[in-house]
Amino acid sequence: MALCSIQVNVNGTNYQSVVEPRLSLADFLRHELGLTGTHVGCEHGVCGICNVLVDGRSVRACLLLAVQVDGQSVETVEGLAEGEKLHPIQQAFMDEQGLQCGFCTPGFIMSLKELLDCNPSPSEDEIKDVLGGSICRCTGYAGILRAVQSAVAKMGGGQPSSAD
Ligand code: FES
Ligand code: FES
Repeated sequence: MALCSIQVNVNGTNYQSVVEPRLSLADFLRHELGLTGTHVGCEHGVCGICNVLVDGRSVRACLLLAVQVDGQSVETVEGLAEGEKLHPIQQAFMDEQGLQCGFCTPGFIMSLKELLDCNPSPSEDEIKDVLGGSICRCTGYAGILRAVQSAVAKMGGGQPSSAD
C-alpha cells in the first residue's frame, strides 16, 4: 500500500509523519503520537467518545482519516491543561462529579470546549444540544451538565439561562 506524508500540528507541536491512507485520525493520535487521551468506543461515529478539535471544530476522530488533517491543527484533551493547571472545563468535571469511569470524558470535554470557545454563555438547551452528541454509558449526564454550568460561570460567561 502506498504511504502518504502528512504534516499536522497537534496541541501546538508540528509533526511530520508517513502513514497508511486508511489510518484513522484516532489511531494516528493514539498509536503514532502516543496521545491516548483520545478514547475510541463505537468506531463508527455514534458515541462521540473520540471527539477532538480540528481547526477548532469538533470532529469524530474515528471517522476522519489522518491524511484528511494534513496541514491542519488538531487539539486533543492532552492540550488543555497548562502544566499542573487543568483547563476550567476539566477542573469543573472534577469538582462537580462530571465523570464516573471517565471513558467518555475526553470526548465530552472537547465538544464542550468547541461550544464555550464559540459561545461563552450558552443556555441550558444549547449545552444539552451538545451533550446529546455523545454517549455516557455510566449515564452521568446530571453531573456533566452541572460541570458545564460551573465552567461557564468560572470562565466569566455568567449564569447560563434556559432558552425559551
Ligand atoms: S468512537 Fe468515534 S464516535 Fe464512537
Ligand atoms: S463516565 Fe463512564 S462512560 Fe461516561
